[in-house]
Amino acid sequence: MTAERPRITIFDTTLRDGEQSPGCSMNQPEKLRLAHQLDRLGVDVIEAGFPIASDGDFEAVKAIAAAVRRPIIAGLARACRPDIERAWEALQYAARPRIHVFLATSDIHLQYKLRITRDQCVAQAADAIRFAKSLCEDVEFSPEDATRTEPDFLCRVLEAVVEAGATTLNIPDTVGYTVPAEFGDLISTIRRRVKGIDKVIISAHCHNDLGMAVANALAAVAAGARQVECTINGIGERAGNASLEEVVMAMRVRPDRFAYETGVVGEQIFAASQLLSEITGVPVQPNKAITGRNAFAHEAGIHQDGMLKNALTYEIMTPQSVGVPDSKLVLGKHSGRHALSIRCEQLGYQFDRRALDDIYRRFVRLADKIKHVEDHHLLELIRDTHKPSGSATPLIEKIVPQQAAVVNAPQAEPVPEPAKPFPVGPQTNAFGVPLPVHGDSHHEQTQQEDYLWGV
Ligand code: KIV
Ligand code: ZN
Repeated sequence: MTAERPRITIFDTTLRDGEQSPGCSMNQPEKLRLAHQLDRLGVDVIEAGFPIASDGDFEAVKAIAAAVRRPIIAGLARACRPDIERAWEALQYAARPRIHVFLATSDIHLQYKLRITRDQCVAQAADAIRFAKSLCEDVEFSPEDATRTEPDFLCRVLEAVVEAGATTLNIPDTVGYTVPAEFGDLISTIRRRVKGIDKVIISAHCHNDLGMAVANALAAVAAGARQVECTINGIGERAGNASLEEVVMAMRVRPDRFAYETGVVGEQIFAASQLLSEITGVPVQPNKAITGRNAFAHEAGIHQDGMLKNALTYEIMTPQSVGVPDSKLVLGKHSGRHALSIRCEQLGYQFDRRALDDIYRRFVRLADKIKHVEDHHLLELIRDTHKPSGSATPLIEKIVPQQAAVVNAPQAEPVPEPAKPFPVGPQTNAFGVPLPVHGDSHHEQTQQEDYLWGV
């Protein structure tokens, strides 16, 4: 019998912290469109905005609260009455409203930003939570800059807000300063030291200034946090927040290390990423884990060969599991003959080994110059390589015409008829050594060529 995996609440803050990314602000219809996609994605909480920040944000939170009924809808508020009242005004008709109150607790913020003492900070936090609780059952508190707050004082503030009625304690690494082991220790300290902690959910909110947001969030979960705050494509203030798709897929791909469940529908991840990018006009970085255009693209010949034999060789999750239509084999200078021959077949040309070698050499020289070899380049090259001078008729018989710039792996087009042989000259291996022309040793020779050409 397998033990039940703890369920992690996925709190999506793309529409609030994510929107704080330069260039990522969204208007009300855009926010509503994305909120519907987050609902399809299966997130548990949507932080829809910061209602006091602007009338537009207020209207967006209100519209989302009215239209999106399954997830909890949260609105952000500073620890003061006007913010909390405005947040409640926007949220009050939600099926499941949450007020999210924050107040900085680090000495740096108390001294330079808020200009209040520690005692004043504790009193303000508790008062704000009591007021929020008088309006809404579900209240979250965030001690801003928690990871640079003196731990004894942090525990004191947290204890006061639990006493005042907070139901979720979110621990923000506001400036992306912490590292996984340290953040895990902080969560353990809070669990050990804060009275009443067992009645509330601990949450992690990690920024990516040192590129450790996802690792820190996972360390917090391992230490007992049961909510993760994250964003699609990892957008957010400065270097961004922990990326939702990375947190979720780390748990799916490595259940041996992260034995937790989420309600996220993996197959909706790519659609959410694309929609966000379309709405904001901010492209996803090509090598972004899970959602970047290269996340399931393979260019190296050895990798392409492995992928064509079995995708498990170079992919730890299927593209379909995150809603990406298919893997791509990109034809570039690192590609090998295996992918090249399949692309040629998809374009309607089938070659024997030697003819392919011929094409391959010229293909590599071309790829060196133009980086990505598109179908029209390849067709030109094929015709040029195998056309006797003066003749307009290619010697190669075209089998199935197709238009696509990449090879879709692993299912190559079936080839309806046998290959036509080509007249080819003497061949050499990668080091210029002539290869035997024909004979019984052809199979061994083929294997040797595979090795020399890096397949
Ligand atoms: O990073 C942060 O501290 C925040 C809080 C408002 C939760 O975004
Ligand atoms: Zn934040």
